[in-house]
Amino acid sequence: MTGVLVTGGTGKTGSALVELLRGNGVPARVASRRPAAGDPDAVRFDWNDPATHSAALRGVDRVFLVPPIDTVDPMPLVGPFLAEAEHRGVRRVALLGSAIVLPNAPSALELAAQVRARPGWVVLRAAGFMQNFLRPHPVGERIRRHGEIRTAAGDGRVGWIDARDIAAAAAALLTGSGIEPRDPRDYLLTGPKALSYRDAAAIISAHTGRPVRVVTIGADEQAAGYRAAGMPAEFAAALAAVEVGIRAGREDRVSTAVLDLTGRSPRTFAEFAQEHATEWTANGPFER
Ligand SMILES: NC(=O)c1ccc[n+]([C@@H]2O[C@H](COP(=O)([O-])OP(=O)(O)OC[C@H]3O[C@@H](n4cnc5c(N)ncnc54)[C@H](OP(=O)(O)O)[C@@H]3O)[C@@H](O)[C@H]2O)c1
Repeated sequence: MTGVLVTGGTGKTGSALVELLRGNGVPARVASRRPAAGDPDAVRFDWNDPATHSAALRGVDRVFLVPPIDTVDPMPLVGPFLAEAEHRGVRRVALLGSAIVLPNAPSALELAAQVRARPGWVVLRAAGFMQNFLRPHPVGERIRRHGEIRTAAGDGRVGWIDARDIAAAAAALLTGSGIEPRDPRDYLLTGPKALSYRDAAAIISAHTGRPVRVVTIGADEQAAGYRAAGMPAEFAAALAAVEVGIRAGREDRVSTAVLDLTGRSPRTFAEFAQEHATEWTANGPFER
């Protein structure tokens, strides 16, 4: 099949991308550890089972690449996959990378460098997802249960982006006709405005009518919380350390890439909050 293999095809960005591609008549193969029985274009794919990689790549000419989540070292699993994709003549890979550089995680930087090094392959450096404020993400879980955000990021701002706008940018890049040598190989994807957790909490409060408190904690305490939510220790520590960088202003930036690629402005946090207001309040008041 000439079309797009969407890894992470059941996730927040991947599922939105599949919808956009299929809506535009582009065949999309949904990769998942548990492929949907009713979808003839769903394929079993598990990063931890390299035997599933070849079948997923067979016949596709483009790949949306969501690397293994919850790890600081994706290269051992993704490196051979990239080599096979190249060998099979995949002409475009769009890597879902991150604007935030995890400390002590050179493997993620190496992965982005390997993608950028191949002509026509591109890296999407996405800012923090607005969907982190929804369950099942620990931030969203805590807002729902306790009306509270605990953060080590202080008043540092992030260019929060709706995952659906990442999908729209990816769709544009994966369906664009030609690949010009002068095309960028790296896109910083953000929402329209950088916001602190306090700003975001105020917007959620305004749309739910319920106060959301922001409690400042230390990075160690944050890491312990992430571990308690089930994250591997190394990854939890890295994510908590990222907040220290946010506090220092490292993620306080926005780009015009979504507009440039899709012709549409990215969704604002207020639009996101309005759309999801009932998800923060569905079962009555916050449990304090
Ligand atoms: N959250 C953020 O703020 C943020 C910011 C920038 C970049 N990112 C990046 O965005 C990506 C998605 O993150 P997310 O947490 O939001 O995830 P998500 O959209 O909820 O999706 C996770 C996806 O990964 C798939 N998956 C999980 N384990 C897998 C495995 N062993 N083999 C194959 N597929 C597997 C899942 O598919 P199945 O369960 O169906 O197998 C699912 O489709 C991550 O790479 C993350 O680094 C996130």
